[in-house]
Amino acid sequence: MKVLLVGGGGREHALAWAIRRSPELGELIAAPGSPGIGRLARQLPIGAGDIEGLVEAAVAERVDLVVAGPEAPLAAGLADRLAERGVPCFGPRQRPARLEASKAFANDFCNRHGIPTGRYQVVRGADAARAALRSGSLGSQVVVKASGLAGGKGVFLPDTLDEAEEQAIRLLEGSLGGAGATVVLEERLSGPELSVFAITDGTRILECGTAEDYKRRFEGGLGPNTGGMGCVSPGRGDAAFLRDVHARVIAPAVAGMRAEGTPYRGVLYAGLMLTDEGPKVLEFNVRFGDPEAQALLPRLATDLLPVFFGAATGQLGGAPIDFAPDHSVTVILAAREYPGPCPSGAPIRGLPDAVETDGPAFVFHAGTRAGAAGIEAAGGRVIAVTGLGPDRAAARGAAYSAADRIQWEGKAFRTDIGAPSEGDP
Ligand code: AMP
Ligand code: GLY
Repeated sequence: MKVLLVGGGGREHALAWAIRRSPELGELIAAPGSPGIGRLARQLPIGAGDIEGLVEAAVAERVDLVVAGPEAPLAAGLADRLAERGVPCFGPRQRPARLEASKAFANDFCNRHGIPTGRYQVVRGADAARAALRSGSLGSQVVVKASGLAGGKGVFLPDTLDEAEEQAIRLLEGSLGGAGATVVLEERLSGPELSVFAITDGTRILECGTAEDYKRRFEGGLGPNTGGMGCVSPGRGDAAFLRDVHARVIAPAVAGMRAEGTPYRGVLYAGLMLTDEGPKVLEFNVRFGDPEAQALLPRLATDLLPVFFGAATGQLGGAPIDFAPDHSVTVILAAREYPGPCPSGAPIRGLPDAVETDGPAFVFHAGTRAGAAGIEAAGGRVIAVTGLGPDRAAARGAAYSAADRIQWEGKAFRTDIGAPSEGDP
C-alpha cells in the first residue's frame, strides 16, 4: 500500500513510525514532513493547508490512502476533495469535521443526540452574551469558548461573570479573528480529564485507547494553557468504565453522524471531564491528539494501517485494536518562551541517530528544522520524548532520562509528567 501522510508535527512523526511498522506498507510519503519524518518517508514540499496541492499529489502519486494528521485540512474539505478523485482518506469529511471546527455545532450535535455536555449557550453578539451570563442559567462560573478553530487558544476560564462577559465581548469583537465570531458560553465543570479515542468507518467502531494530557505550562497545573506539555497513556478508568463511556459518548456520536447523512470516518477523539454526574464532553477532535498520539501509538500491538484503510473505505474489520500492557509517559521539550512567540535556530544535541528509539524511549520531532550544523529547534514544542515501561513510574524514568540527554539553549519542560501527585490531569 502506498500512503500519503499529511502534516509535520510530533503527532505525525508518531503516525509515520506506526505506519512504517506495517507489513502492508509499500511506500510512505509525507507532506510536508519534518527532519524526523524524513527518516521514515519520502517528503513532498506541500503544506498541510494546501488542499489542492495535496489532492493533486495524491492523484499523481497514485496513493492508496491519505492519512490526515491535523484537523485544519479536514475542516477545509480535504477528505471531500479526495473522495471526488477516488482517493480514500483516513479523516472525516468537512461536515463531520465540524465536530471540531465549530464548538457551537458540536454542542448542538451533542444536544440532538443525548450526548452529555455541560449546560451551554451559543451567542453571536454582546447583548446575547450579557443576557446569557446574567440569566444565571449557566451558573456562577462560565467557560468562554471561541466556536471556531483557534489552535488551542480559544478557551478561557474566567473566575467571575464580569470577566466572562469581558472575555466574550473581546472574542466577539475579533480578538481571535473569525474563530470568535460565534462564542459558546458553557457551565464550568470540574473533575479529572480523560481523552478517549475510537476509530470508525461510520458504522463500526473500534476503541483506540485513552490518554491524559497535561495542558498547563507549569508544574502542578499552573500557568497558561498550551497545546499539551505531556501525556500519559493509558489514562484512568477500567474496561467497564470505558465501555460505558463508549456507549454514552462515542456510539451515539457515530450513530448521530450517520443518521444526519454524513457518516464519520477516521479517528474520533472525545475530550471528557469526569464529573460527579458522570462523563461530560468538553470537546470533540477529529484527529489524534498531539502529544496524545506520541503516548498512544508506541503502545500499539495492532497493525494500524489496515485499520486506517478499513475506516477510510467503510470496511473496518471487527478485530479489536490491541495495546501492549505497557504504560507510556510523554514529555514535551519546549522552548522556554512557549506558549508565547518562540525563537528558532538553536542547535539540538543528543538526539538519537537515525532512529526514533533511545532504549525504552522514543524521540519524536515536534518542531525542528535542518540547519547548517544539524537539527535545530524551530517552534514552541520542539521534541516529544515517550518512555515505555511496565508501570507508569518506569515509563516516567525512561522518558526523563532520554529527555535529559537532549539539550539545546532555551530548552524547557515540565518535571511532573506522570508523577504520582499531579496538579493536572
Ligand atoms: P477544549 O479545547 O474545549 O477541550 O478546552 C480546553 C480545556 O479547557 C479543557 O481541556 C479543560 O481543561 C478546559 N475546559 C473546557 N471546557 C470546560 C468546562 N465546561 N468546564 C471546565 N473546564 C473546561
Ligand atoms: N493535546 C490536545 C490536542 O491535541 O487537542
